[in-house]
Amino acid sequence: MAGRLQDKIVCITGAAQGIGAGIAEAMAKEGARIIIGDVNDDGARALAEKIGAHAVHLDVSSQESWQALADYVGKHFGKLDILVNNAGLELVKPMQDHSLADWRNIMAVNVDGIFLGCKTFEALLRESGKSGSPASVINISSIAGLVGYPDQLAYNTSKGAVRHMSKSLAIEWAAHGDAIRCNSIHPGCIRTPMLELAVEGWVENGSVPADDPWSAVAALCPLNTVGLPEDIAMGALYLGSDESRFVTGIELVIDGGWVAR
Ligand SMILES: NC(=O)c1ccc[n+]([C@@H]2O[C@H](COP(=O)([O-])OP(=O)(O)OC[C@H]3O[C@@H](n4cnc5c(N)ncnc54)[C@H](O)[C@@H]3O)[C@@H](O)[C@H]2O)c1
Repeated sequence: MAGRLQDKIVCITGAAQGIGAGIAEAMAKEGARIIIGDVNDDGARALAEKIGAHAVHLDVSSQESWQALADYVGKHFGKLDILVNNAGLELVKPMQDHSLADWRNIMAVNVDGIFLGCKTFEALLRESGKSGSPASVINISSIAGLVGYPDQLAYNTSKGAVRHMSKSLAIEWAAHGDAIRCNSIHPGCIRTPMLELAVEGWVENGSVPADDPWSAVAALCPLNTVGLPEDIAMGALYLGSDESRFVTGIELVIDGGWVAR
């Protein structure tokens, strides 16, 4: 039986581990042909072998790196159906301890990275749209792009920018008659290497206790649990598939109820 994303060409950034890897596995199971772009070449290659995907080196903050990836996709596939801008960096410390270099590094990966991805792949996404169903761009923001949280100002600000960039692109592409949809996903606490690092920071700043930090992290969420990468992957499957053909410019919150409280 054909999968929900049968033969769709999908590029996922930051998919060597964590949420990106979860999305790659779920989309591959639904028949998609996946290209993983990550700075972690070994991790990307290992997952690519496991799920039958392509792994291409990508630093999302570099325009040259994006162009090299687009050249690869253009040469091998001639179009891109789904772009998942997932790669991101987190930084947990008070605003006064953020250096300008820290700030710029977070913005370079979390914000410039998505701008460059959308800009570089626009022509190949347009090619996909010509087939009758619109291409789909899925940008991974965060609940931190919707509500405040202490001691991660650069991160929160970058994720707010991702939310707004997604809506603005959705409207710009629609206004120009391009068959490209664009939506953001806002994960809550999802157990990945990034969250494990963040929780170390929260222990240091006293947000959660050192003796049982994970129960405390779960308790921050109304459903009293920490999410898994597959929880985000289910949202990405919907936004990537033609089931969401009438959906653009939305913010899909997958957070166990965090921002509803
Ligand atoms: N885990 C959470 O609780 C959570 C919550 C909200 C939002 N998010 C967002 O989800 C996305 C994925 O998070 P995660 O938890 O899986 O993180 P992670 O740190 O576990 O994985 C991030 C991946 O991005 C890659 N990466 C980092 N910098 C890169 C660059 N310059 N170019 C290419 N790849 C790069 C890393 O090598 C890694 O494979 C991020 O955008 C993050 O902000 C995560």
